[in-house]
Amino acid sequence: MSGGRIIYIIGFMGSGKSTMGRRLASLMGWQFLDLDDRIEEITGKTIARIFSEDGEEEFRKTESETLKSLATATNTIISTGGGTPCHSGNMDHMLETGITVYLKMTPGQLASRLVGSSGERPLLKNIPDEELLSFIGKKLSDREQWYSRAGIIVDGLNPDPGLLVSMIEAES
Ligand code: S3P
Repeated sequence: MSGGRIIYIIGFMGSGKSTMGRRLASLMGWQFLDLDDRIEEITGKTIARIFSEDGEEEFRKTESETLKSLATATNTIISTGGGTPCHSGNMDHMLETGITVYLKMTPGQLASRLVGSSGERPLLKNIPDEELLSFIGKKLSDREQWYSRAGIIVDGLNPDPGLLVSMIEAES
């Protein structure tokens, strides 16, 4: 594990990765980067448009290439997409090039956060509200095998940014 270079924030959609990434960056004086925003800048398309026009497989390819292109960044917090760790060897890559932080939440907590906003997210837009909880439960249990490899795992519901900074310093 390398210290002082990249901190990757991982976790399910709606777990607050970008919010926590920004808080950490401001507390630590590091740069903040959101992987989905970077993909949108590079491709000139929204994530929703990439999914609808090019398909998920193409999105995953671009996501992995974009992630790996950032490997030499220094003092940078990167918030990833919910599926990033689960494709293309990305979790191994993140474990090798930085510190990984998983914002862990239960399906119920995630469903209550995502219920109003699921239409904006390509993977959730066709899921009716009454099926959201069971969809999240299945997807999360599938993804847990990657998420749980993170170097640091914290409660995503009420994370304490100051405590997280201490945990990161202890890992470095
Ligand atoms: C995805 C999560 C999204 C985005 C894309 C796919 C996923 O990011 O990368 O829609 O597979 O969980 P957020 O976790 O930031 O919503």
